[in-house]
Amino acid sequence: MRVVLSDPLLPDVVDEYRDRLDIVVAPDGEALRRELAHAVGLVVTLSVKVDDELLACGPGLRVVGNFAVGVDNIDLEACRRRGIAVVNTPDVLTRSTAECALLLLLACARRLPEGERMCRADAFGGWEPRMLLGRELLGLKAVLVGRGRIGQATARLFEAVGLDVDFITRADDDGAVQKKLGAADVVSLHVPLTSSTRHWLNAERLSWLKPDAIVINTARGPVVDEQALIEVLERGALGGAGLDVFEEEPRIPARLRALDRVVLLPHLGSATRTARAGMARKAVGGVAAVLAGEPPDNRVV
Ligand code: DGY
Repeated sequence: MRVVLSDPLLPDVVDEYRDRLDIVVAPDGEALRRELAHAVGLVVTLSVKVDDELLACGPGLRVVGNFAVGVDNIDLEACRRRGIAVVNTPDVLTRSTAECALLLLLACARRLPEGERMCRADAFGGWEPRMLLGRELLGLKAVLVGRGRIGQATARLFEAVGLDVDFITRADDDGAVQKKLGAADVVSLHVPLTSSTRHWLNAERLSWLKPDAIVINTARGPVVDEQALIEVLERGALGGAGLDVFEEEPRIPARLRALDRVVLLPHLGSATRTARAGMARKAVGGVAAVLAGEPPDNRVV
């Protein structure tokens, strides 16, 4: 059973499946299309767009495994139409991503990048009472957008360090959203990218935030209107932003990179050995299960 991987993933974990699957790695687009001609399974990372055109290269394809929990890189409708199953990687990256949200929040609140840059530039001139004053998290109000697995895990971590947590969910109407955003010291995004969450945090909703509020995004870049966020930050109308994801990854706008009050990470939310090993097992193992006719617990389509 030939399964094509768009990336070697974690090779030691992938090796666990070689007795059941004939695994080949095709790291560039052309090789991927070529190998798909003989494949029944495909495993991709989130930078590979799985659309009708790619699926057409695999006439025998029965299942796609996404090495991510977010499936916005996959045309689910096209898979459904073609009778191709889709599996993803829920649960295993929940803790790592929640920890990343807390990391970004602490880094923003305590101005970590500015302090770090000062040290590296050999510009630390000695302890000063007013240097790089940040904010204590104790008692701050955090509003988490999305109450899924990662939202709930982030809430538990935020509460553990003394934040008071509330959620915005689909049940909230515009009035409730405005009220919650207006009361927030921290807004952290935990929704998947869909047509209804694209630019959820837009210029209007940003204008409802307090001028010292901190925005954290470990979900997907396009959930935030990046240009609107940059404008608000440039005007000094927002306290800061901790961003692990960007609208057009891997491109990070120069205007964003130039800002002091932002913490930028290269999409590291799930970048722990624990999470990535779990993701490899969910993605490749889910594909193996579908091909063996067993029901995987991580089937999306
Ligand atoms: C996901 O799983 O969707 C993440 O963004 C990858 O870390």
